[in-house]
Amino acid sequence: MTDLAVQHAFANDFGLVTAEQTAERLVMRTQGGDACAYVAMKGTENRFLGLAFEVEDATALEQALKLDGARDLGLLDLPGGGRAVALSDPDGNEVLLVHGSHRLPVGEAYTELQLNTPFRKERLGRQQYERDIGPARLWRLGHAGLFVKNFAASAAWYGENLGLIGSDVYHVPGVPQVQIVGFMRLNRGDEFTDHHTLALMQDERGGCHHISFEAQDFEAQQCTHKFLRQKDHEPIWGVGRHPHGSHVFDVWRSPDRARFETFSDTDLLRASDGTRVHDISTVMMDNWSNDGPERYFA
Ligand SMILES: [Fe+2]
Repeated sequence: MTDLAVQHAFANDFGLVTAEQTAERLVMRTQGGDACAYVAMKGTENRFLGLAFEVEDATALEQALKLDGARDLGLLDLPGGGRAVALSDPDGNEVLLVHGSHRLPVGEAYTELQLNTPFRKERLGRQQYERDIGPARLWRLGHAGLFVKNFAASAAWYGENLGLIGSDVYHVPGVPQVQIVGFMRLNRGDEFTDHHTLALMQDERGGCHHISFEAQDFEAQQCTHKFLRQKDHEPIWGVGRHPHGSHVFDVWRSPDRARFETFSDTDLLRASDGTRVHDISTVMMDNWSNDGPERYFA
C-alpha cells in the first residue's frame, strides 16, 4: 500500500481499532475479540496480498500442510500470534490458515434495539434513541469478496481445499452451465453459519473487491453512514438490503481504491440447506432501492 497514514485514518473513521502502527505496517482489529483483522503493508503499489481463515484445531494445520503448495509459516509475527500455513489460490492470492491466536476482551455493545410493531409492543416506558453518530462498533470480519479470473476454477479450489459450499450462485444469462458469481459459506455440518464467508466474482481485474465487517444492527450502520458522509469519505452503495443473504449492507471506498463494508442481520444456513442457482440477469441486488451495482463494480 502506498499511503498507510491515509488508509489508517479511513479505517479509524470506519470503526476499526488500531492494533499496531509502524512506518512499515498497519494492523487493525475489531471490538469483537480478534487481535488482528486487517493488515496493510507499506509498498509501491496498492495490491491485495491475501486473506486468512481460522481453523478448528492444530490437526487441521497438519492436514493443510499436505495440500499442493502448502508452506508452514510457523508462528505469526502479528498481534494475537498463532501458527499459520499458507496456501495459494488459483489467482495467486495467499490464503493463510491460522490456529492458536490469542483473543482480546470484547468491547461494549449498544443496548439492543427493541421494536414496537403493530402486533407486539416490546419497548415500554423507555425512550430508545441513544446511539452516537461516529465510527462503527465492528464485531468481526465476516466475509471478503474477491474478483477472480476464472470463477469455476476458484470455486472448485475453495470447495476442495477449504470445504466452502455455494449458498447462491449465478450463471450468465440463459446459460446455466457457465457460472460467474457465487456466495460461498463454511461447511460446519449442522452448525448455522453466515450465508457467505467468501464471495467470488469473475472479473479479469482480480484482487480484493471488498471486505465486510459485522455491525450490531441496521441502526448502527445508519449512524456510521451519516458519520462517514460528514467526514467526506466516498459512499459506494447503501445502506441497503441484499435479497440473497438478507443482510443489510453499506459499502464505502477505501483510499487504496478497494471497498470496506458494514453488514448486519445476515441469513444463517447449515450445510444441508443447499445451494440456489440463479440467472444473473434476473437478480436485483438491493431490496430497498432501484440502484444497480454499477458503482459497486466500478
Ligand atoms: Fe459483502
